[in-house]
Formats: sequence, C-alpha cells, structure tokens
Amino acid sequence: MSLPLISAPVQGVWVLRTPRSAYVLSLGGQDVPLAAHWGAPVDDEAAIALAKVPFDAPRGSWESHLDGREEYPSDSGMRFTEPALALRFPDDGRTVRWVFGTAEIDGGHLRLRYTEQTRPLRLTLHYRVGERHDVVERWAELRTDVPVEVVRADSAAWCLPPREGTRLSTLHGRWGADSRLERTALPDGTLRLGSRRTTTSPMHNPWFAVDDGAATETHGEVWSAALAWSGTWRADVQRLPNGRVVANLGAGHESPVARLRAGTTYEAPKSCGLWTDGGFGAASRAWHDYVRGAVLPHGEELRPVLYNSWEATGFRLDEANQMALAERAAALGCELFVMDDGWFGNRVSDNAGLGDWQPNTDRFPDGLGPLVKRVHELGMRFGIWVEPEMVNPDSDLYRAHPDWVYHSPGYPRDELRNQLVLDVGRPEVAAWMHGWLDRLLSEYDIAFVKWDMNRPVTDPGPYGDLLWSSRHALNLYAVLDRLRHDHPHVRFESCASGGGRVDLGILARTDQVWPSDNTDASDRLHIQEGFSQLYPSRAMTAWVTDAPNFLTGNRLPLRFRFHVAMAGVLGIGGDLPRWTLEDQTEAAALIAQYKRIRPIVQQGSLHRLRSPRTSPAPALAYLSADGTEAAVFQFLDGHRYGEPAPPARLPFLPPGTWQDADTGTGYASAFLAAHGLDAGLFRNHDSAVTHLRRVA
Ligand code: DGJ
Repeated sequence: MSLPLISAPVQGVWVLRTPRSAYVLSLGGQDVPLAAHWGAPVDDEAAIALAKVPFDAPRGSWESHLDGREEYPSDSGMRFTEPALALRFPDDGRTVRWVFGTAEIDGGHLRLRYTEQTRPLRLTLHYRVGERHDVVERWAELRTDVPVEVVRADSAAWCLPPREGTRLSTLHGRWGADSRLERTALPDGTLRLGSRRTTTSPMHNPWFAVDDGAATETHGEVWSAALAWSGTWRADVQRLPNGRVVANLGAGHESPVARLRAGTTYEAPKSCGLWTDGGFGAASRAWHDYVRGAVLPHGEELRPVLYNSWEATGFRLDEANQMALAERAAALGCELFVMDDGWFGNRVSDNAGLGDWQPNTDRFPDGLGPLVKRVHELGMRFGIWVEPEMVNPDSDLYRAHPDWVYHSPGYPRDELRNQLVLDVGRPEVAAWMHGWLDRLLSEYDIAFVKWDMNRPVTDPGPYGDLLWSSRHALNLYAVLDRLRHDHPHVRFESCASGGGRVDLGILARTDQVWPSDNTDASDRLHIQEGFSQLYPSRAMTAWVTDAPNFLTGNRLPLRFRFHVAMAGVLGIGGDLPRWTLEDQTEAAALIAQYKRIRPIVQQGSLHRLRSPRTSPAPALAYLSADGTEAAVFQFLDGHRYGEPAPPARLPFLPPGTWQDADTGTGYASAFLAAHGLDAGLFRNHDSAVTHLRRVA
C-alpha cells in the first residue's frame, strides 16, 4: 500500500511526500513550526526520529537555537535570521507570538493555522504536494481584524539541512544577456537577489539552487526553490553563523508589501521547493515535469513552428511585406505566422502609437483581414504582437487619458523607450484593455498573442509600496485570466524585452516565453542552458535569425543557428526574401527534421551532456517520454586547432539497440554509454542533431 501524500504519524509531526522526496516539519516549543527534513523519502518512523533531532547548540548568548530551523521566522522574539514575516501595528508594536490552532490535511494540502497571542490576527502556513511531481509548494496567508502594515510576508523560509559545503547557483542577466547560470560558493551573511523593477526582470530570475559544492550534472543532492510571481520579489539566501543555510523567498522588494485594513487578508504567492539527489540534471528534469504537468495551462500540447517578423521588418511592416514573409515562411514549413510590433496606430517607430490598437490604415488599408486570410490560405495560424500595459505620450490614448499612467502629480513623467506605463489596477484601464483585446481576438481569427512589456515602472504614483509589491502584477494576471477564459483557443507568449518576465506565475497564464532578444546562437547556448535549469524547452521560443546577428555581428552557419533553436520551440525570425535558395532548401529540411523530433524535444527529458560554460563542445540530449527515442545535439563553439570533438556519451539511454533514424547506423546502448555518439565535428561552429530510435 502506498503511503499517503501527507501523514501526521504523531501529534505535531507532519510528513509530506512526493514521488521521490519527503519534507518533514514539526511543532517545537512555543508552537514554533520547525524544519525537520527535506530530502530522500522517509517512512513515518524515520520522520519521527528526524523530528527529534536536537537543535544545534547556540554559541554563547548571540545566537538562537531556532536560527536555520524555523519555517516562518518573524522579526520579534529570540531569533536572528532575516525575518520572513515583519508586521507593524498602529501602536508601533511589532511583537507577534503565534499560538498553534489546528492542522488540516486535505489530500496533498496541509494548512497549519495559528492565531496571534494578543491581537486578532490569524496566520495560515500552506504546504501542498502532488502525486505526479516532486515540488513542495508553500505560501503564507495572513488575516487580520486590526489594521496592520505588512513590512514583509514571504511565501516561505526554506531551511536546508547542514552539509559540509554550501554552493549557490543563480540565474542572472541583463537585456540581451538573460538567464545566465552562475555557480559560486555561498559566503557567510545574506545574499539578496531580487527585482524592484515592478516585474520579474532579466537581472535575476526568482530561482536558486544550493548544493554542498560537489554536486555535478549527474550526482549529488540539490535543493532549489522558485517563486511563482511576476512582480517585485526578493530572495534572502543566508549562511548563518552555525553554518546552516536558510533562504527566504517572497513578493515585494522594498517595504511594506501590504497595508491591511481590519477584516482583510494578504496571501503570499506560491514558493516552490524541490530536492533531488541526481545532481543538477535531475533537478532540472524534475522542475520541467512540474512546469509541464502542474503550471503551464496546456503543458502536454506540442507548440507549432512559428515565424516572427521583428528582426526582418522591424517597424517598417505593411500588408505587402508581411504577406511576402508569410509566403516564404509557409514554404519552409512554418505553422504559425506572428506579426510583431508596428501594425497599429502611428507606430512607425518606438516614438508613437502604443495605446492606439487599430490597424494602421496606411499599412493595412483594409484592416488585418486580408493578411489573416492569406496566412490561413497558406495553411498557417495567425499570431499578433501587443504591448497592452504601455502607452506612448504621442498617441490618441494618452491625449485622451493622460491620467491613466502611473505618475506622481507635479513630477516629470519618466519615459523609457518613449513610453509610460498604464495603471492596470484602475477599473476603467482594465476594462479598456480587456475591451480592445477582446474585440481584436473576436474580429480576427487569431491563435497566438505575443504579450510584450518593455519597461519597468519607475514612478509608483499614489500607490507607493503597494505598486512595487503587487498592484501591477495582480491586475495584469486578472486581465490575462479573463482573456484566456473568454478566448480559450488563443495561446500567449510572455515577453518583456526578452526574458524580463519569465517566472512560474506568468507561466501559469501563458504558453511559452521569449527568453531573450539575443538571437545569436552562440550566446543562446549559454542563455538556454540557464533557462533550462528550471524551465522546460516546451516553453522556450527560439528563433533562427539572419547573419550577421543584429546584436553581436557574429556570422554563424545557418545549420548551427538552426540546431541551437531546434533545442526549444523552433521559430524563424530571419528576413526570408533575402535568404538564398540554398539557405531556404536547407531551412526546409531542418524544419522537417525538427517536426520529427519535436515530441522528443518538447515533451522528453533533458540531459545536459557538456556545458557551454566549461566546454567548447557543448552537447545535450532529450529522451522521449516513453524512452524509445532520443535527440542528441552537439556543437563546437569557441573550438580551436581543428581537433575532433569528443563523442557525446549517452549513459541515460535505456538498454537496447539504437539506430540513427536518418542514416540507419545501429549502436548498442552500452557502446553509446561507454564511447558515445561521434558526430564527426571538428571545425568551429560545426553542429549536429542526431535522431536515435530504439529498435531492439
Ligand atoms: C521587444 C521584444 O523582445 C522584441 O522581440 C520585439 O517584439 C520588440 N519588443 C518590439 O518592439
């Protein structure tokens, strides 16, 4: 008989189980909830023993036995870590002491309910696990019957068991250089990651992983956590004087995150934690399963090969050039044609037009109908770019409603990319936004919306801290949820100048994301490696664009550019009428190959074989969900002296005979594990994608 998702073997001990891990917590003295175990599966007996492990003895009077063990530390009482909860009452008081009430177990959902000792406040700590993934979801909920300023109310404090070393992995970046993996020893003290840019931001992704310093792609324990939130956020990763690591993760960067009136509730977004003992590779595969199975609205769906017009026509688009692009894209085998920025209002540059969501009549004299019809005749679906949260001062919308943007009266309005941000929290703005999008999606047969967002809010106007923390993100979610509900067949792509809004919160409402404006295939190897730590290829749009690359000037072979993009949701973004016949023939063949391996790439499990950070011969592979097919990607990037690339070893293949689906060459799995697959690469920017099938 299998063990329940959550059990309470004795009073005050709870065991949460995922298919491959366990999380144990217990009620300590003074009702404090304590972390007892986050790691390998345990039975009830072991859980009880783990809950009895004594505290680390504090050294002298400057430490607390609770530090590094407490599930939700506040900033009052005998504890010294960064607080997950900090409250201020009108009488300037901050002290809280939580009295345990009940524990409710509802399938995979545990609620620990507390009341405050002297004030009418209630705190609920939520824990949730599922049968099909290894993530523990945690969040906190505060209900008050007195006014209170919530300076901080993190989703969770994640306490890690003590290990000999502590190494931190993070994803950092900037525009055009998003989601780069950094792995570094964690120093004593607090390392703060986060965003005060109103949205997730490309600077740090709300995810981190900690290992003992010895984990590899294939071995070792890894603890990681992410935040399902698209607003400002903060992670405080602390290495305490006692050597323990605790990481608080929550919404809001500055304080306070909320000001609650009596009778109201603050619910923190979900924080998701994952333990694995198969190294960084197993951690990523477990995250991918979770994102596909429990986050994305249609995670099981295969995404089409898309064409996007941005790098080809920029702001110079019109009906004729879009039709010309569509014809070429269809001939190559693209399945979805996405018209990017420049189709509406007076949007002939980034100076004007945002907010005027009517087709530009010079460019589309008969509206979008003829283009949409042509795209459909060509056998493709039609997609469109929008940036609904923004307005250019040079627009009819702004001239009519200058008060609709966030701003502080009497102060200049800060323009970034010549645009201002609309206050989506105002009911009339939300209604207008939903209205024009609803009309657009109803009037035309649109299958896909690329939802862009190209600047942070810099002036909170009257909302101050509340804007920084949650107003914008929550109201954006509401508009997106309503649109999805009203137009269930439409799929959405999240974009914020590339990867500025990539997180588990937006992925619950969108179908894929644009990870970076950087389309240089060599840089993309790094960006995609970072992205893949947490997010699955099924959500990662990757375009093949022109050479030289607009950003880096690199001239990489078409085949290399394709092979890098084929590791995600393949898209084409080049100026196709300028492609030679030879390029077009090669592109059509590569798109056809992609369609054959697409289910393996988008739904299979990822094995990173050699990292672009450490090897000039990066390689990765996907194994199909049923274990009968694999797609192996090999590259040379930064390679010198014409030395042959080492074969890519494939120890994860199920035993049997494997055959190259294109050449028919057969290999024993033992050979592929021991020697590897030799793609014959020796020149810099050589690349290969091999489709393997298990035949016996
Ligand atoms: C930024 C996006 O990341 C690009 O792909 C493109 O859509 C431009 N905005 C359009 O303005």
